[in-house]
Amino acid sequence: MNAAQSMTITTATFPGAEPRLLFERTGQAREDLTAYRRLGGYRPLADADALLSEVDGSGLVGRGGAAFPLAVKLRTVRDNGRIAGGAVVVANGEEGEPASIKDRWLLRNRPHLILDGLRLAAAIVGADRAYVYVSDPESAHSVETALGELDPDALGGVTVDMLTVQPGYVAGEETAAVRAINGGPAKPTDKPPRPFESGVDDHPTLVSNVETLANLPYLQRHGSVSFRSQGTSLSPGTFLATITGAGRPAALYELPQGLPFTEMLALHGVSPEQVRGALMGGYFAGLLNRAVLEATLDHETMRRLGSGLGCGAISVITDDCPVAVAASVLAYFDRENAGQCGSCFNGTAAMAAVAGALRDGAATTEDVDRLRRWSVLLRGRGACATLDAATNVAASLLSQFPDEVAAHLGGTCQDCVRGMFRADCPYEAEVVRLA
Ligand SMILES: Cc1cc2nc3c(=O)[nH]c(=O)nc-3n(C[C@H](O)[C@H](O)[C@H](O)COP(=O)(O)O)c2cc1C
Ligand code: SF4
Repeated sequence: MNAAQSMTITTATFPGAEPRLLFERTGQAREDLTAYRRLGGYRPLADADALLSEVDGSGLVGRGGAAFPLAVKLRTVRDNGRIAGGAVVVANGEEGEPASIKDRWLLRNRPHLILDGLRLAAAIVGADRAYVYVSDPESAHSVETALGELDPDALGGVTVDMLTVQPGYVAGEETAAVRAINGGPAKPTDKPPRPFESGVDDHPTLVSNVETLANLPYLQRHGSVSFRSQGTSLSPGTFLATITGAGRPAALYELPQGLPFTEMLALHGVSPEQVRGALMGGYFAGLLNRAVLEATLDHETMRRLGSGLGCGAISVITDDCPVAVAASVLAYFDRENAGQCGSCFNGTAAMAAVAGALRDGAATTEDVDRLRRWSVLLRGRGACATLDAATNVAASLLSQFPDEVAAHLGGTCQDCVRGMFRADCPYEAEVVRLA
């Protein structure tokens, strides 16, 4: 075991809120079948359509980043599967996002919760085949052990296979997952077709994040009204938030959606006075300045601010210079893009070069103007949304932190003079032993 693996991560549910996804206490070993059944897991499902109605009523949206309504996806895959002679379900636990740890926590600690959600989704769409798609070997081992504990018919006749791929930022994108399961590289393909139209072996395929699926057993047991007792009307339920940055160890919290950002800070032990801003949605949704202190953690508020909750990973920026943070994230995209699309391969390299030069006090006003233009022109290009992530970071740096950008043009950023922030993966939530 190396140093990183021997570290632990704090997990906690927001005080007063019943945990739905996390354990009630920390320090517990992986939840085995007996423990999971004791909580009411693997309940017989009498009526899949009735459960779909509950999913609909719950307003549950995907936790993988795009916040797409799960009920819409379930219904579409079910209907397409009836025409195509069968559907497939993929539990996406690849978690290519460096600042997120939630999916690995669930896979390593609560594999039965995910498998229970997977068999419920399969029952709704009428699938008899499913996959658990991961890149973390410990997660794969945990799920394989859980599968070994189950009777053959416990999953309602659904055959579940595991696929473990090499980790990578784009490997968790849904078409990359389908391509890898079909025997290809874990790299995105052009859309259409999207997986819900044609995915694994050309069957309509539901690709859902493991946290999304982990909400289904709760919905089966308690129903949509209870589900909505936490969260806002447009962002119902709880979500898993990986909190990094602020010079503190990473933590995983289960929070009600709509929680004020400042209450999350209090839980994490960070004073609002220290906060300069935040990197939202992992590396995807860009930077926010101190306006984030007035925000609540829900999709509608984040969208209004031009940002996003994404996969729930939030990096709190205190001492680091936002220009240097953006330069590191853009350099990461330059290295991690799949190199398949010219606009992305060249665009991420160009934006990373300007941001790096800006950080180092070597950029001109013309360079910054070019960065601004690219942050608009390159949006929506490429086979997957990696360029959107990169343009979000570039555009938000320029709009949210104009004073810092100007200070760098004048070569007067004192933070960067004191010590340049040059992380390869800023605020990476390390692979740790999760307690
Ligand atoms: C570049 C890129 C990387 C992605 N990586 C992941 C990932 O690691 N895990 C994940 O669940 N979704 C990831 N997604 C989103 C998936 O494409 C897909 O929307 C998601 O798995 C659907 O699940 P959900 O509806 O439950 O959120 C990624 C998307 C993009 C554009
Ligand atoms: S847009 Fe970028 S990351 Fe996505 S497939 Fe194309 S080259 Fe790869």
